[in-house]
Amino acid sequence: MALQASLLPSALSALKEGKANGALKESAFLGVSLSENSKSEFGSSVFISNKRLNLSVGIRAQTAATTPAVNRASPDDKKTLRKGNVIVTGASSGLGLATAKTLAETGKWNVIMACRDFLKAERAAKAAGMARENYQVMHLDLASLDSVRQFVAAFRQSGRPLDVLVCNAAVYFPTAKEPTYTADGFEMSVGVNHLGHFLLARLLVEDLNVSDYPLRRLIIVGSITGNTNTLAGNIPPKANLGDLRGLVGGLNELSGSTMIDGGEFDGAKAYKDSKVCNMLTMQEFHRRFHEETGITFASLYPGCIATTGLFREHIPLFRLLFPPFQKYITKGFVSEEEAGKRLAQVVSDPSLTKSGVYWSWNNYSASFENQLSEEASDPEKAKKVWEVSEKLVGLA
Ligand SMILES: NC(=O)c1ccc[n+]([C@@H]2O[C@H](COP(=O)([O-])OP(=O)(O)OC[C@H]3O[C@@H](n4cnc5c(N)ncnc54)[C@H](OP(=O)(O)O)[C@@H]3O)[C@@H](O)[C@H]2O)c1
Repeated sequence: MALQASLLPSALSALKEGKANGALKESAFLGVSLSENSKSEFGSSVFISNKRLNLSVGIRAQTAATTPAVNRASPDDKKTLRKGNVIVTGASSGLGLATAKTLAETGKWNVIMACRDFLKAERAAKAAGMARENYQVMHLDLASLDSVRQFVAAFRQSGRPLDVLVCNAAVYFPTAKEPTYTADGFEMSVGVNHLGHFLLARLLVEDLNVSDYPLRRLIIVGSITGNTNTLAGNIPPKANLGDLRGLVGGLNELSGSTMIDGGEFDGAKAYKDSKVCNMLTMQEFHRRFHEETGITFASLYPGCIATTGLFREHIPLFRLLFPPFQKYITKGFVSEEEAGKRLAQVVSDPSLTKSGVYWSWNNYSASFENQLSEEASDPEKAKKVWEVSEKLVGLA
């Protein structure tokens, strides 16, 4: 596996001397190999109430667990149900678009495509053949906390209940030499992928709590690359949040460091760190809210979707070779369509009600509960990330 994972980077560095470093780092993304993929790790009495959640509730001693007893209609009653409302962030391309399309095509879901580029999202939905009555596009720029708050206000004004939230959008800057920043001055990768979603999810969990839909879920897309218990997660630079000193300092050079662990800026590592935050956040949501609300919290690794826009910042040669490398060498490649079906399954499959779980799929596209790395499942770190993030987004 190590040999497989090193093939493309070596080829790239031989061909493209000056960019070899970036290409090598990029391999961390790629290392989803066949055997990696096939590892076999892989109703609720939820009161329907207007009661606001106690968002300052401390961590409860609770592990990934079952859903509490239910007073709601069971998912089997869905013939008589209204359409579910699902918000998907970053639905203008890649995994988000494929998920939106899959859900919209069932006719059972109304998809709110929460996107930073309104027209791009409208065009993408149209090009994908999504029927107008099954989706709306709403503006959301996760690189601005004001925009997140405005989105939440606009969504609430629409009067629609919220049944499922999917935090999917992401940016990735593997070859960036210098950091870029969100409107609030956070390093962009962690600012968008983690902090923007953290505020969005923290605000909208209240809406999920009052939904009368039998299936209520909050899903945060994770990644194998943030998990150092995998081959891909072990290719440098590895994810490592350290003691969070950079996050505590606000993730910019003025206050200290652009990196969560306080180190030098590294775009590839910033992405992986942000994914660790995503997976820790999902588990912390689970510990704080699952028992009280019955909401299912989940994360997932959808597979290596080598063709998406996530790699747009990479060198052209990499973008050319990455998909065939994943298809024919590692065999870890997953099409956007297949990955969209996987995420749609986590949204809507009545059998995936277990909360606190990080889902993955084997080579036969069967879902299984995957193991997170030590850091990505560390409850103390999750608590600290939560508390620091609350301060940074103005909730504490
Ligand atoms: N591709 C893979 O192999 C892979 C593997 C594991 C996990 N993932 C995860 O899958 C998710 C989707 O990635 P993808 O591969 O589908 O990449 P993608 O095609 O680039 O999609 C990313 C989406 O995020 C949106 N976005 C970026 N910045 C935003 C912002 N500030 N505000 C709102 N939306 C923003 C993009 O909008 P624009 O269209 O306007 O750019 C785009 O719709 C990510 O969470 C990623 O970490 C991907």
